[in-house]
Amino acid sequence: MSEKVLTKEIANAFTPAKEISDAEKFAGRQEYVSDALYGLVTEGANLAIVGGRGIGKSSLARQIINISQGDNSLLEKLDVPNDEKLDFLSIYLACGNNIKTVSDLLNRLLTTRDCLLEWIYDIPNASRELGKISSGLDVKIAKLGSEISDETISSKAIQTHEIDVVFQNVISEILKAKIAKNGILIVIDEFDQIEDPSGFAKLIKSLATNIPGLKFCIVGVAQDIQNLMKEHESTDRLFAGSVINLPSMSPKELNEIIDTAENSIRDFIKFDESARDKLIELANGHPYIIHLIGKQALRSAYKEPTYELNEDYILKILSEIAEKEADPVLEGRYKRAVASSYQREAVLKSLFEVIKDGEILTTEAYKVAIDYDVDNPSQYVGHLVTEDYGAEIIKVRERYYRFRDSLFATYVKARPWLTKNN
Ligand SMILES: Nc1ncnc2c1ncn2[C@@H]1O[C@H](COP(=O)(O)OP(=O)(O)O)[C@@H](O)[C@H]1O
Ligand SMILES: [Mg+2]
Repeated sequence: MSEKVLTKEIANAFTPAKEISDAEKFAGRQEYVSDALYGLVTEGANLAIVGGRGIGKSSLARQIINISQGDNSLLEKLDVPNDEKLDFLSIYLACGNNIKTVSDLLNRLLTTRDCLLEWIYDIPNASRELGKISSGLDVKIAKLGSEISDETISSKAIQTHEIDVVFQNVISEILKAKIAKNGILIVIDEFDQIEDPSGFAKLIKSLATNIPGLKFCIVGVAQDIQNLMKEHESTDRLFAGSVINLPSMSPKELNEIIDTAENSIRDFIKFDESARDKLIELANGHPYIIHLIGKQALRSAYKEPTYELNEDYILKILSEIAEKEADPVLEGRYKRAVASSYQREAVLKSLFEVIKDGEILTTEAYKVAIDYDVDNPSQYVGHLVTEDYGAEIIKVRERYYRFRDSLFATYVKARPWLTKNN
């Protein structure tokens, strides 16, 4: 225990709700940072980051932006060889549910101050280009309102085309103004949220030919880039060698997150060996889980106060996380899947226990479930694949299943029983 720390420091030692922007707090990931740097300096290459929820994609994207703007502190920290300070004009956009198509996306990029708009204002030719859509769009929206039906489809097509062209012209005007030596980097996070990304592959292909100074970095939940872009054709050439498939973090990397948090509160509260082992086991490679549990643990310990946290303390915190709904989304999904049935909860937990290489063999899961006194486990597996129970389980092939999302699977393991007190 050392000098007193501030509540604010305790509250921000772990950051489950925020990606890591600060290089100092960014743990591990050397190989992937190095791949990203390579992609940034490769002419004509776009970047993509794919992986599961809560694995650290947005955080890596933030680091890529920092590096693209000449901040080499992470490269130095990780001993990644670097010989220049990059100078990109970098912008970041996270897709929410209001970006449904590629033209919505381009529209957003062009008309949001944090994105391109701020730069467009300063460049008369670019402003002129943008002027073409803003007036054109208003007219079309008015038109859409009055005469819907089959008109909708055709005017939508025209609009897409126009936005493509305007986007390309605006980018090329900004590039001509030579604001940044290495060109423009556009990071599109949560790309998987775009309902209909069709046309995006074609768009970047044509942009690559017409304006080589533009680079995209697309980020999202998926197993590979084809899935992320919902693209049937191969996208290999557009993302030549620069798709980053972000895996789980190693125990060493997860430990580093705990070190960083302890340092930030000058060791005022510490996690002992047993607490660290437990945290790392529970996290199952997901940095998010370390931050979620760590934050709640520090909060309680600071209040009590307790200065040295062990495994039992972590287990106690797990109940608090469930009760207080520290992650309302995961907790909501858990409750929906269980829906107050001891038997279904037991089956859900059994499924996690027998995961091998991401897959679940039902006969193995049934054995575990029967030990939990479940009479007819297959019936509950049947429930868990349906939308009514959140469709958290997916059938891969005869007798094989998997969890839709490994972060949820991890939550299933970590969360104390809802329907049973022990
Ligand atoms: N390299 C890292 N070092 C420390 N914490 C990390 C790292 N990567 C991610 N995190 C933390 O893990 C959580 C999930 O990260 P995030 O980047 O939002 O993941 P994703 O975008 O894949 O869902 C956040 O709390 C973030 O602060
Ligand atoms: Mg993210």
